[in-house]
Amino acid sequence: MSSLLNVPALRLTARKRSGSFSEAKSLARSLSTDRPGTPRPVEMESFGHIDASECGFKKVMSKKEGSKFFGSLDNVHAKTFMGTEHHSMTSSISLEVLRRAFSTEAVELTKETDPSGERQLAKTLNPEELMKLDFYSKFTPTSVTLSHFLDHSSGGGTVEDSFLFLRREIPVRLANMMMELELLPAALHAQPACQEIIAQYGHSFQDILQFENSSNTPEAHQEFNEVITNIRLRHQDTVPRMADALHNLRDAGNLHVNSKDRLNQAIQYFLDRLYMSRISVQMLIAHHKALFCPEESRKVTDGFRGTIDPACDPAAVAQEAFENAAFLCDQIYMDAPKINLKCTNLTDKSNPDKIDFVYIPSHLYHMFFEVFKNSMRATMEFHEEADTVPEIDVHIVKSSHDISIKISDQGGGISRTVAENVFLYLYTSATRVKLSGGDMGGTTSTSTPMHGLGYGLPLSRLYARYFGGDIKIASCDGYGTDAYIYLKALETDARETLPIFNASSSNKIRDTKNQVEDWTKDE
Ligand SMILES: Nc1ncnc2c1ncn2[C@@H]1O[C@H](COP(=O)(O)OP(=O)(O)OP(=O)(O)O)[C@@H](O)[C@H]1O
Ligand SMILES: [Mg+2]
Repeated sequence: MSSLLNVPALRLTARKRSGSFSEAKSLARSLSTDRPGTPRPVEMESFGHIDASECGFKKVMSKKEGSKFFGSLDNVHAKTFMGTEHHSMTSSISLEVLRRAFSTEAVELTKETDPSGERQLAKTLNPEELMKLDFYSKFTPTSVTLSHFLDHSSGGGTVEDSFLFLRREIPVRLANMMMELELLPAALHAQPACQEIIAQYGHSFQDILQFENSSNTPEAHQEFNEVITNIRLRHQDTVPRMADALHNLRDAGNLHVNSKDRLNQAIQYFLDRLYMSRISVQMLIAHHKALFCPEESRKVTDGFRGTIDPACDPAAVAQEAFENAAFLCDQIYMDAPKINLKCTNLTDKSNPDKIDFVYIPSHLYHMFFEVFKNSMRATMEFHEEADTVPEIDVHIVKSSHDISIKISDQGGGISRTVAENVFLYLYTSATRVKLSGGDMGGTTSTSTPMHGLGYGLPLSRLYARYFGGDIKIASCDGYGTDAYIYLKALETDARETLPIFNASSSNKIRDTKNQVEDWTKDE
């Protein structure tokens, strides 16, 4: 897996963006009032959670308050918390919280594998912290648009606003995810790597809670900066750590990585949510640090606003990713395909072959790099005997709504049965790479495998979906594959996609029993 932080600095010059910036800005402002931190009523469903849409949530901010988007959540929570302060946090309440949070079924499941029956979180957090976990998990994460991030970084927001927003939003996102981690199937939950991840979440939650009521001063900001830096580092290896837990499960014969298996479906569903939540928290932290502690950020590139490039050039990012993938490919196959890159900008007649848009170059790089590695491997293996291998065609098209990127190879394609599985974590047709000896293959890893983890496509798709995009694969078996990367062309449309913990998500995670077939089978 390539490290997002290790993305080589891209030389990018500021370009004029298409579309009216002031228009986009005012739209962003109006949107901000629609998305305050969204508390969900607790009593309305068995699990104590409900979708905002189901209960017709009330706006809790006035328009005036809403204009300070990054301070908004703080107001919401401050009010709610004042209401709960008079409850004494006695152990009887925390037992109740535990009972509700970690449903009977969840506790029963653990007993099968852990005779003490105690969930990992209950070992890490004290009763008061568990109660706060329950509290924060009832808020829907506040999904931010790229345009909000951009506005905030172009003078519209201060370190004080950002601090207020993050000290509430990070625990909300962590808490929503921690509740889901506790519902994992017992066999996976009991894996040491999984227990470690849960404990890490517990520690990060504890760390961030310190700032709940701290004053909004430079000293607090300094401390906050240290804490979020540690949180970022602590979760760097979550992906390979979880992959390790899943490999163990698979090797023990308890997990079958195919699209039909119910346990696998539940795990894939959960992994998408865990990794998306992680991407989002890392984004919040990286953006805050790049803006307010630039001296600590490893790469602050000219023209960037925090982590965002307001004039991101997808062709330059593609070129960079291609060169790095080709370097790897060359080491393995002694050669690499060439790139044939074309841009079509349908929104600017005077500059039809130049494209730029607001995006996070490191995310885009990740998607390109993974798709290119796959195309190169397929091309080299399919044309093993040939003197020259076919080029990989890349066509980037900008329309008024979308950036559509088509990457076509002639690497022999994927059969339809295999194509069903390519977005499954762990699915790979390569010999599996074993991550061991302390090298977790994560962002701290020094080695980047060309293939073999089965994480390239599903993780890249998450990066695309994070801001409202997607990745699709279409293939002609026996000939080649087209990978499509779709992204939002307008920053006002590019809104974070975040998991919400509620009854529906917990049912999906817990529904692991294979059902009786109600369609005849192919074979
Ligand atoms: N362009 C392609 N042509 C042929 N097969 C492909 C192509 N892209 C993906 N695949 C198939 O999809 C599988 C999954 O791809 P994915 O990138 O997720 O994992 P991987 O390449 O095996 O491992 P890694 O996690 O290291 O990327 C591949 O193993 C391969 O079988
Ligand atoms: Mg791959």
